[in-house]
Amino acid sequence: MSIFINKILCPAPQKKRMTVFNRLGLRYITMFLSFTTCIVIYTKTSPMLFSVKPENVNTESSCSCQSCVMDVGEDEWFAYRHNPTVPPLLNRKNSVLRRDVYKWWMALQHSSLKVNYTEIVDQLFTLFPDEDHYSDPGPDRCRTCAVVGNSGNLIGSRYGPLIDFHDVVIRINKGPTKGYEKDVGSKTTHRILYPESAVDLDNYTHLVLFPFKIQDMQWLISTFTTRHIRRTYMPVKPTINANEDKVMILHPGFIKHVYDSWLQKHGRYPSTGFITLIFALHICDEVNVFGFGASSGGAWHHYFDKTNTHFKAGPHGGDFENKTMHELLQRKKISIYKGFK
Ligand SMILES: *[C@@H]1O[C@H](CO)[C@@H](O)[C@H](O)[C@H]1NC(C)=O
Ligand SMILES: *[C@@H]1O[C@H](CO)[C@@H](O)[C@H](O)[C@H]1NC(C)=O
Ligand SMILES: *[C@@H]1O[C@H](CO)[C@@H](O)[C@H](O)[C@H]1NC(C)=O
Repeated sequence: MSIFINKILCPAPQKKRMTVFNRLGLRYITMFLSFTTCIVIYTKTSPMLFSVKPENVNTESSCSCQSCVMDVGEDEWFAYRHNPTVPPLLNRKNSVLRRDVYKWWMALQHSSLKVNYTEIVDQLFTLFPDEDHYSDPGPDRCRTCAVVGNSGNLIGSRYGPLIDFHDVVIRINKGPTKGYEKDVGSKTTHRILYPESAVDLDNYTHLVLFPFKIQDMQWLISTFTTRHIRRTYMPVKPTINANEDKVMILHPGFIKHVYDSWLQKHGRYPSTGFITLIFALHICDEVNVFGFGASSGGAWHHYFDKTNTHFKAGPHGGDFENKTMHELLQRKKISIYKGFK
């Protein structure tokens, strides 16, 4: 764990050193000073790092973390699946859906309601920020992200401080922090949810809607305006606490991309956990995964209740999602923290 923390505190020391000598400036002197501090920590904890071959130093990298999600390198498996040009979040400009996307998305959860998508998008971005979110990757950025699932394997893990140390902490559906801070942390920058899984958020958290159906977008609008939608296929909250200025909506085209490219059409559509993982690959430079999978005893339940949640249940390709996630681990694109239980 200490090596992991060093990684965040002292990203890519070799590269930073080169920058200092190439482009001296006040900013880089400050960087150099912090780098010096890092040397002390590094030599104390991991002297092996200094055996890095000099040719690695000059490699152009897409971010300033030690390793970057975007660096495809020679990895054809990853390059085949990951398409950084697919926007994960909806805005006015990218809102027109390809015909096949529209058809697939509309068939996902059929509804008898006849609604005009263009008009709904228009309402959405009258209320919520219409931005080109996270289009800022670059060699100076190192955005670390924790994707926090709801698995019972978080119980007793004491991952709280480690999770909170990330720039971005993405939580899923109802997964609470209150009362579980030691194991799951207290920071939430993003929460992925849909009407049937909605909870109140604090003012600092981005609500990220996973729209399985067009009615979910209508619910989002209703939640912040008329509050008249109280039911989808089940009762839903007519309103929730959330900061209107931080609302984001997953792009239906992104949901289909994850299904086609990453899941190779296994299951009917991606699970919320899996789509959150791929969302993180798009907006982050380093991705660490917590609270996925079973407990060591093989039990499948949430850390906050005892409901059984076997991963093969439901319309998701659970096996295939798990296989793909472990492939990402093996290819060093993500790290997976399994918990102690
Ligand atoms: C949807 O609404 C837009 C704008 O109000 C309109 O131009 C378009 O014709 C409508 N589409 C359908 C299928 O009704
Ligand atoms: C929440 O944040 C917004 C800015 O995003 C601010 O305008 C508003 O006053 C805040 N509300 C509360 C209750 O802190
Ligand atoms: C997920 O995949 C990994 C690697 O293939 C495997 O070791 C693990 O048992 C799988 N988990 C489940 C629940 O199938």
